[in-house]
Amino acid sequence: MVPQWIIEKKRDGAALAEGEIRAFIEGYTRGTIPDYQMAALAMAVFFRGMTRAELAVLTDAMMRSGTALETSRIPGVKADKHSTGGVGDKVSLILAPLAASCGVVVPMISGRGLGITGGTLDKLESIRGYRTDLAPDEFMAVLAECGCSIVGQTAAVAPADRKLYALRDVTGTVPSIPLIAASIMCKKLAEGIDALVLDVKWGRGAFMKTPEQARELARTMVEIGAGAGKAMSALITDMNQPLGRTAGNALEVAETLEALSGRGAPDLMRVTLALTAQMLVLTGRVPDTSAARPILQAQLGSGAARRRFLEMVARHGGDAEALASGAGLPRARLRREIRAPRAGTVSAVDAGRVGRACLALGAGRTRVEDAVDHAAGISGIVKIGERVDEGQPLAALHANDEGRLDEALRIIDGAFAIGEGEARPPELIVETVRPGNG
Ligand code: URA
Repeated sequence: MVPQWIIEKKRDGAALAEGEIRAFIEGYTRGTIPDYQMAALAMAVFFRGMTRAELAVLTDAMMRSGTALETSRIPGVKADKHSTGGVGDKVSLILAPLAASCGVVVPMISGRGLGITGGTLDKLESIRGYRTDLAPDEFMAVLAECGCSIVGQTAAVAPADRKLYALRDVTGTVPSIPLIAASIMCKKLAEGIDALVLDVKWGRGAFMKTPEQARELARTMVEIGAGAGKAMSALITDMNQPLGRTAGNALEVAETLEALSGRGAPDLMRVTLALTAQMLVLTGRVPDTSAARPILQAQLGSGAARRRFLEMVARHGGDAEALASGAGLPRARLRREIRAPRAGTVSAVDAGRVGRACLALGAGRTRVEDAVDHAAGISGIVKIGERVDEGQPLAALHANDEGRLDEALRIIDGAFAIGEGEARPPELIVETVRPGNG
């Protein structure tokens, strides 16, 4: 195999053969193909795209660059959920224990926040003692005993993706739908799951800026998963305003506990219940999503899902007792409210600005190696359609540094629009994508 011939073939718009893709990914993982050739191929894919068959092979080759988790050792049907990321998106923290309390095994490998989108691992690490770096045997034990475990990606899972993602980040090749789809799906397929539900977000606080882009990404990933024999569905959901009422790690964990106690914000619960219902359908627990609703409500109402979350926290070394009693999470030293300049109806809450303000407060990172301030973030976020009086708080900013707080206040200025009359909240769940209906 001559790498430059493969690059030239893709550059000229031809489809690559299975052997060419596998050899390229193997060579790149081993280091016999250098970064500059991989970068050139990624750029060629960026401009020329990939066929369905090419994508299936690319995803499989990236998955096989590492070791798959041996979750088949654990009895029961396994499923996971993946979100393309957003602001205030704490759905995984609620969904994993909720689905586990309904008998689904949820082996969830999550990521850290980058840019304005938060990361599930950062949220969990705001809980005193919670370990996201379980060894494979520990992960299996938590899964077998608790039914759900949320951990970080180890070096053994899809190393080709780890290398390629870092390379794409510095070569302008991140926003390519085939490369994003293969990158996400190779890690999910390595979990050894039977079913996968995707939450593909569009809007000001999401990767995908239009519903059309989100639909294309959703279809691409659903096809890859279905081709690999997995039960798949994807919801396209709105991320123009933040999800729920908080953004920022510890604040989102506190909101998660409220949601698991049956006091979740309506938009957060709508998305969470819709995704969990899909998961119950795909795993054959219920015939359709309407049958899932009363079951999920009962698990929330009885406290079963909350207990499952606290059990997972404890098994990961987290201080579940403190968490259950309202402690165990860091609090920021400084708190500043932003207030409505006049009475009216909230007509917009710009998730992009809220996300950037969170980043300025220290809740996120701009480089992978940055540390995050788990206590920083924004709480009490008003929602589109709500009435506010003049001077009423629209949100509260939390920080440990005056300079960061001032910077965040500058960024968030203008994130909230208040109008006269009614304002309709955006369509939260735009579409469901299943194999064959895309
Ligand atoms: N998340 C991933 O894991 N990969 C991408 O390429 C984009 C988002």
